Amino acid sequence: MQGVRTVVRQLSAASAATARKIVIARHFQGDPKPDDFRLEEEVLPPLRDGQILCEAAYLSVDPYQRAYKHRHKVGQPMIGSQVALIVESRSPEFPVGRYVVGYWGWRDRTVAETRANRDMWAPMLVPELGDLPLSLALGVLGMPGNTAYFGLLEICHPRPGEVAVVSGAAGAVGSVVGQIGRIKGCKVIGFAGSDSKVNWLRDELGFDHAFNYKTVDVGKALKEVAPDGVDIYFDNVGGQQSSAIIYKMRTGGRISVCGSISSYNDTKIPSAPILQPAMVFSELKMEGFLVNRWLDRWDEGIKQNMQWIKEGKLKYKETVTEGFENMPKAFIGMLKGENLGKAVVKV
Ligand SMILES: NC(=O)c1ccc[n+]([C@@H]2O[C@H](COP(=O)([O-])OP(=O)(O)OC[C@H]3O[C@@H](n4cnc5c(N)ncnc54)[C@H](OP(=O)(O)O)[C@@H]3O)[C@@H](O)[C@H]2O)c1
Repeated sequence: MQGVRTVVRQLSAASAATARKIVIARHFQGDPKPDDFRLEEEVLPPLRDGQILCEAAYLSVDPYQRAYKHRHKVGQPMIGSQVALIVESRSPEFPVGRYVVGYWGWRDRTVAETRANRDMWAPMLVPELGDLPLSLALGVLGMPGNTAYFGLLEICHPRPGEVAVVSGAAGAVGSVVGQIGRIKGCKVIGFAGSDSKVNWLRDELGFDHAFNYKTVDVGKALKEVAPDGVDIYFDNVGGQQSSAIIYKMRTGGRISVCGSISSYNDTKIPSAPILQPAMVFSELKMEGFLVNRWLDRWDEGIKQNMQWIKEGKLKYKETVTEGFENMPKAFIGMLKGENLGKAVVKV
């Protein structure tokens, strides 16, 4: 704790109360490009009551940052979350020296409001992580981990012996979904976009089967390893891949619709095979969700995932890009599948 205080004092003394921020220079057309972003500096205001000054340690790059087009504003910082050290505080619940997760966009220093009311976008103190890396607060012990935990358990209700399929399986959410499926006694099948990802899922995470969706026929692969059909599908990607999986589901199957990353860079909504015949004849249930539905149970998900990590039942990987100025590179890379596990940027 003493060490943290020393760092805090040095940072505050060195701070000229300026922040670096990466703003949107122009709206994305298709795949985001480096020129769509611009690095700027700004002078920060002095703190008012209820505010904190934070220094970013890690920033997150996530698919929703591409999907939430309505929140992109030219000239404003790109949206996103970070885990940051509180270096000055005028808010008793947020003391200097603690780390906090904040949705403040791509900026390395922030004057932020704290709020008594808990909502998805309000700063949250990072719980005691012990020996675990701080960056996990943006991954398996943060929003993506809770997305996997609640999105699988509350929507699909997995039972031992059932067959569960997850797409985007080697990413932040998918890799956790598959492992929770295994913990709950399911036979787990993952789809991911490279052979090395597939090997990781099978050899290290204990997926029963994993396939590279870019090189296999998804329907045929499932017919081979799940000839009686699929009970649960956790959908991270949407599109053709998801339709092929849904047509391999058996009666009473449940589908948790988490995201549709296959379409986020598209300028027009793409079409995929019609789902109604599979939904009707196999009497499937499909439900979309946003993870903030479970905000009132947020700590439960984090505690349970942490417990499983400590018991060796839940493994994680991070793809760490160094340097705040490399946020666009990390973001563009994540959208192309360059990350294994959670993509984060170390400031
Ligand atoms: N509903 C919610 O509340 C909620 C919360 C968090 C996340 N999400 C959603 O969950 C999904 C996964 O998010 P994440 O944070 O875990 O990201 P992630 O999987 O760690 O990273 C994105 C991955 O998407 C895959 N991808 C890119 N283009 C693709 C395409 N055309 N088809 C299939 N896969 C493609 C890439 O992996 P490959 O190499 O395998 O292609 C890439 O690594 C996203 O759809 C996201 O929007 C939803």
